[in-house]
Amino acid sequence: MPKIIDGKAISAQIKEELKQKVSELKQNGVNICLAVIQVGDDPASSVYVGNKKKACAYIGIESLSYELPDSTTQEELLKLIEELNGRKNVNGILVQLPLPKHIDENAVIHAIDPKKDVDGFHPQNVGALCIGQKGFVSCTPAGIIQLLKRSGIEIAGKECVIIGRSNIVGKPMALLLLSENGTVTVTHSKTKDLKEITKRADILVVAIGKPKFITREYVKEGAVVIDVGIHRNENNKLCGDVDYDDVAPICSAITPVPGGVGPMTIAMLMYNCVESAV
Ligand code: GUN
Repeated sequence: MPKIIDGKAISAQIKEELKQKVSELKQNGVNICLAVIQVGDDPASSVYVGNKKKACAYIGIESLSYELPDSTTQEELLKLIEELNGRKNVNGILVQLPLPKHIDENAVIHAIDPKKDVDGFHPQNVGALCIGQKGFVSCTPAGIIQLLKRSGIEIAGKECVIIGRSNIVGKPMALLLLSENGTVTVTHSKTKDLKEITKRADILVVAIGKPKFITREYVKEGAVVIDVGIHRNENNKLCGDVDYDDVAPICSAITPVPGGVGPMTIAMLMYNCVESAV
């Protein structure tokens, strides 16, 4: 049977390390503060934002909460971001996505001071990642690197295949695996012969957004499979993009859903918040 990569345990370990670091910083008079902005009341976003604020409290990071109505204009949101950019006591700014349709997400991401962009979404941070310079890294792919490293999985020289090319997961994932000396292929909805490519992977990262899409026909025996997806199935149970029961028996290691990649996103957000203050 495969090694089950325990994202819950690894994220708990990272949070403990950060809690210790935050307490040391506090003793030196350094306080960390994250501003969290949510526009509208999308229930999933409310759960994510709530979990982020809870993690801040646990680690000892102050959080400022801005819950704005759906009717908030882009101008109003940009004005708030500008104000937070200017506040010395605010280290990080997080605008929960998605935003209501009348607000241009790119304009909002652009408006955040790159030094406070703890999501790692600003073009300056994405560019820094691309050329191997220091900057904030998108939390989910950064969390996946931690899962691999802390599970003792070697990346250098491995065939790494990513399914999905989003700005938040697929693209930064490719850059991170490349910087760890993996041989990287990015596949997407227009890729021909997807199975042929995914079957080459020593490390397969799946962010396709379709429940249980990846069955064992897509996976090489002994591969490491990382599942970024999260969905509710017909019985209201959580499942990923990977058909876990079908794929797990042929892998060397696999992330479960829930309890795999999910908890790592918040752990890495907390990591970025601590970085924003040092
Ligand atoms: N919506 C879904 N994932 C994320 C994330 O990582 N950050 C933000 N700001 N919004 C999201």
